[in-house]
Amino acid sequence: TLTLHLDDTTRNVSPMLYGLMTEEINYAYDGGIYAEIIRNRSFKDNDKYPEHWTLNSGVDGQATMSLTTEEPLNDANKMALKLTVTKAGSSGAGIANSGYWGIPVRPNTEYKGFFYAKSSDSGMHLFSVSIENDSTNLGVYAMTKVSESGPGWKKYEFSLKTGNDVRETSDAKFIIRTMNAGTFYFSTCSLFPPTFNNRPNGNRPDIMQLLADMKPSFLRLPGGNFLEGGKFSTRYDWKKTLGPIEDRPGHMGTWGYRSSDGMGLLDYLQWCEDIHCEPLLAVFAGYTLEGDHLEGPLLEPFIDEALEEIEYIIGDVHSKWGAKRASDGHPEPFPLHFVEIGNEDFFDHSGSYKQRFAQFYNAIKEKYPQLTIISTFGKDFDVPGGKADMIDDHFYRNAADFESSATFYDNYDRKGPKVLVGEWATREGSPTPNFNAALGDAAWLTGLERNSDIVLMSCYAPLFVNVNKGAMQWESDLIGYNVLNSYGSPSYYVQKMFSNHLGNKVVPIDADTVLTQQEQLNEKEIAEGRKSRTLPTLFFVATRDSKNGNVFLKIVNTKSVEQKVKIKLEGIGKVQAKGKLVVLHAATPLETNSIKNPTDVIPVQSEIKGVSKSFDRNLPPYSVSVIQLKAD
Ligand code: AHR
Repeated sequence: TLTLHLDDTTRNVSPMLYGLMTEEINYAYDGGIYAEIIRNRSFKDNDKYPEHWTLNSGVDGQATMSLTTEEPLNDANKMALKLTVTKAGSSGAGIANSGYWGIPVRPNTEYKGFFYAKSSDSGMHLFSVSIENDSTNLGVYAMTKVSESGPGWKKYEFSLKTGNDVRETSDAKFIIRTMNAGTFYFSTCSLFPPTFNNRPNGNRPDIMQLLADMKPSFLRLPGGNFLEGGKFSTRYDWKKTLGPIEDRPGHMGTWGYRSSDGMGLLDYLQWCEDIHCEPLLAVFAGYTLEGDHLEGPLLEPFIDEALEEIEYIIGDVHSKWGAKRASDGHPEPFPLHFVEIGNEDFFDHSGSYKQRFAQFYNAIKEKYPQLTIISTFGKDFDVPGGKADMIDDHFYRNAADFESSATFYDNYDRKGPKVLVGEWATREGSPTPNFNAALGDAAWLTGLERNSDIVLMSCYAPLFVNVNKGAMQWESDLIGYNVLNSYGSPSYYVQKMFSNHLGNKVVPIDADTVLTQQEQLNEKEIAEGRKSRTLPTLFFVATRDSKNGNVFLKIVNTKSVEQKVKIKLEGIGKVQAKGKLVVLHAATPLETNSIKNPTDVIPVQSEIKGVSKSFDRNLPPYSVSVIQLKAD
């Protein structure tokens, strides 16, 4: 029996409880949510040869290509691709890019792009650009011509439109061709399909919709390890991520591949705006993954950088960095309430974090006293001149561990700092978690929700994985995709269910269990010390919306058999007889979703009748249920 005490409104639910965490890992941005199609668009992925680019000289053309720094476009992009055409041939000669594991070709679709080119001859330059079938050289999905004249670098802008009869495929390449012999240099080449909210330099609509459907309250950015970088030179240097993409140098990321930094600071902020959440900004804290760190006066330039970054986000247009944001296209400041100093600084064995944290904390609080400052470790963390307002706890576990940790925050110190669970995941399943992981997640989330007076915010990590071979660095990621399609894992649906059904008050629940004969025997053996206690198999939490009387009861059944529960509602006048039920269930814990079978495990919604102040429910085996009731 679960008895819900609906008149007890002492514990608040944090409105910020469910959020998102993101970083460049598993091709999360390039080849992921960031909709750029061209891979290695500035020819920097490999300094020896133009990776992901091939020569395209038709049946009778003759050409060579190589990388060169002899004709830099600008200081940010010094590498260019040199194409030497000795014979253009009957179909022209050029360069082709095969995208991030393909090009997303769809019917009736407009693609917008540009490239920079420079030629040895200063007359009129005509290029054809196209999206064509990759395998046969026969099918042309879209084609147009662009021209510019004069010496020096020229920007060629174009749009490509596919027809009605084009079938959806990723088996395609993007080609730039010339019909003339000569020497040509190419720099930044970019191509975008339609984006979410039609943002220029924007994000994929399908993945953005998956995120928007989760109704997140915040986005923790830009990492993760990606914030810290391997070295100081490869940290997330936000100033280098602003402005036109051809002015962004990009940098080596922390997960084995370069980042174009097309997902720049402003792009992150607009991402938040588009899915109606606010940024949780993590600032570089003078410590890198290789263990380098700076303290005292040497740290000051990085503190200034963090203050400027905050000003870029919330400063008005009269401030230096607020004005820069306005000139980048966004005069309105963004909302910002939470700033985290670094990432996982418990790995800093030199012990420098106390000092570094205090320096950042004091400087930020002096200028922005309204901000909540988050420390990356230490519940009892207390630094000279600065105390954390909040701490960031990380948990990567298996399902059994999460189930046994569902009560972790139940007896947590209520007088200490508040908690951000800034990274957590049940790591079972690859590339995305299976249903057993979703059960572990759901059990864990009942504990976070029950304690959300202290756990103010939480976000799963990593968020994304490109499912193509060679793209994944970290297994078990919430959302998977290839260039055409995306899907949510069972864990994704658990979070969506939890976040979409949330009140503003935690409802205390008393649970008394009617034990089966076998369970009574087990209890006896446990009491006699002959058996150790097994994990509970039922996890639950309830919240109530005090504004409209909605009650949300979430129950997780991790058992292979149905479990019956009696639900008693106390402390209310009346309850509506009809309610809503949302169930996520799988036949076995190993069931999962995948790019080929994206909807094998999805929530099913139905109506329940006969709800009263005491009613019974049968919980399906291996299931997560949300029961929504209305009570006054
Ligand atoms: O989420 C993957 C990584 O796990 C993050 O980059 C890091 O913060 C943590 O160790």
